[in-house]
Amino acid sequence: MNSSQIATQGLNRRDFLRLSGLSALGVAAGSAIGFPAISTALGKPASGVVEPDVEINLEAELSQTPILSGLETQVWRYRAELVKGPAGTVQPIPNTYLGPAFVFRPGQNVRINFTNRLAEETIVHWHGLHVPQAADGHPRLVIGPNETYVYEFQVLDRPGMYWYHPHPHGRTGPQAYRGLAGLILITDGAEAGLGLPTGERDLPLVLQDRTFDGQNQLLYYTHMRGFLGDRILVNGQPNANLVVKPAVYRLRILNGSNSRIYKLAWPDATPLTVIGTDGGLLDAPIQRNYVTLAPAERVDLLVDFSQWPTGSTQTLRSLAFSGGGFGGGGGNPTLPNGADFAVMAFKISDDATATPAPTATVVPTVAPTATPTTSPLSTAAYLPMIFSQGNGANSGPPSVSGQADFRADQVEAVQADRTFSLYMQFGQWTINGRTFQMEAVAPDEIVELGSQEVWEFANQQPGGMGGMMGGMAHPMHIHDLQFRIISRQAPTDPTQRSNWETVKDGYVDGGWKDTVLLMPGERVQVQMEFKDFTGLFLYHCHNLEHEDMGMMRNYRIVEPGS
Ligand code: C2O
Ligand code: CU
Ligand code: CU
Repeated sequence: MNSSQIATQGLNRRDFLRLSGLSALGVAAGSAIGFPAISTALGKPASGVVEPDVEINLEAELSQTPILSGLETQVWRYRAELVKGPAGTVQPIPNTYLGPAFVFRPGQNVRINFTNRLAEETIVHWHGLHVPQAADGHPRLVIGPNETYVYEFQVLDRPGMYWYHPHPHGRTGPQAYRGLAGLILITDGAEAGLGLPTGERDLPLVLQDRTFDGQNQLLYYTHMRGFLGDRILVNGQPNANLVVKPAVYRLRILNGSNSRIYKLAWPDATPLTVIGTDGGLLDAPIQRNYVTLAPAERVDLLVDFSQWPTGSTQTLRSLAFSGGGFGGGGGNPTLPNGADFAVMAFKISDDATATPAPTATVVPTVAPTATPTTSPLSTAAYLPMIFSQGNGANSGPPSVSGQADFRADQVEAVQADRTFSLYMQFGQWTINGRTFQMEAVAPDEIVELGSQEVWEFANQQPGGMGGMMGGMAHPMHIHDLQFRIISRQAPTDPTQRSNWETVKDGYVDGGWKDTVLLMPGERVQVQMEFKDFTGLFLYHCHNLEHEDMGMMRNYRIVEPGS
């Protein structure tokens, strides 16, 4: 079945399928993962000799889609078709600019033939995945219009939600903003066996902000601080809302915004149950009164909608906070970073025939349905299951952040192997005073294959006038690996410290991470291991406007002793 047939079939099956053609197409996860590990492929550039288990043709193209009522919006989008592999590997999402979700299983050998149908250079990066440098989408690998780049990699990451987006130098912000982004879900039998909600109750949600002109067209501007839209879209749709049953749901949330930070919470102060983060499930669920989610971060939540009255509507909000760095008239005057706003409404209904509002949110079904959970369990019932199962979250680098409910700000700093200071210099955001150079690697940016290191990021922009009114937040991201957060040091400046207090209790610092937020004045230490691949990889701020302005550097992994 090709991707358009999948979409069409979906559209015919459900009345909300105009919006959600993916429902109930479940992927047979939990089936054997029998692909032989092609260890000879590891550590080498894609060779082309490995027969892939999954082959996908992917294109970036100009398109249009209805977003607001009236005129359609011109967008750029990823389109894909499955050439080879299990049905459901490519899950197109109708009527949104988001690219199709890819569902992978650990061990699969994947080939993706990416063709650029845009009028400018681009390249695709698989955010969070551990892949060889030739498959990582580094900006030096950009391809021009109508050129094709072939990616080959083995799926080596843990089950979890990752994503893909463009990575051309200087143009990542505008390209992602126009619509180029999609989800990657890795799932396996062990995760499926945990009894977590599946199918319609496993909801991947991409949070983004956009600004439209009077003709429903996207407006974008580059600003030193970043870009903020004045409307919140979930899976590409405004006024996001969904009819849910009085049951437990899994909400997997990606902050796919260019610069906006979310402080997610229920307005009635019901705590959020967090079961996973960037690199998959935590060892055990934790509770947060709110969750702070910076650009590119993911959080995996369990929500029991039966705890509220059936018939009621619960609205997930982003609460007010300070220190987002858009104060003082910069950024977006309509919806500043740190404003309080609605993210998405959930109408709780046990009426099986309830039809969603016409603007119901598009939700791809990406989770396996091989082991459907029939009885609606309470959230609490899941907790021991996850806990007893374990999920390997503590394998890998030994770390002080062994427990899921790890509060990095309550831990002393250790001696770091290297420190990267983040500050503005000569009107540019820098890392250790440097900006991005395509091939350059400084002596303090070379690491050895097989080694473990602690890196310290220090957000050093001073407060006050010289510091752009308190500095800016920087979500730092490292390519090629998932790291552990091992400590955070609070800002020492009193204003920065009080700003930090408005977000820090929402950090999820346990588990595996590929992106970590540093508020102004904050220092964070992360621990990582450089495995399997040598070569050139990136680390950068994932505020996409900061990244485009050069707040990005290479690091090189070399053979020991070289
Ligand atoms: Cu999400 Cu270097 O990227
Ligand atoms: Cu990345
Ligand atoms: Cu930044």
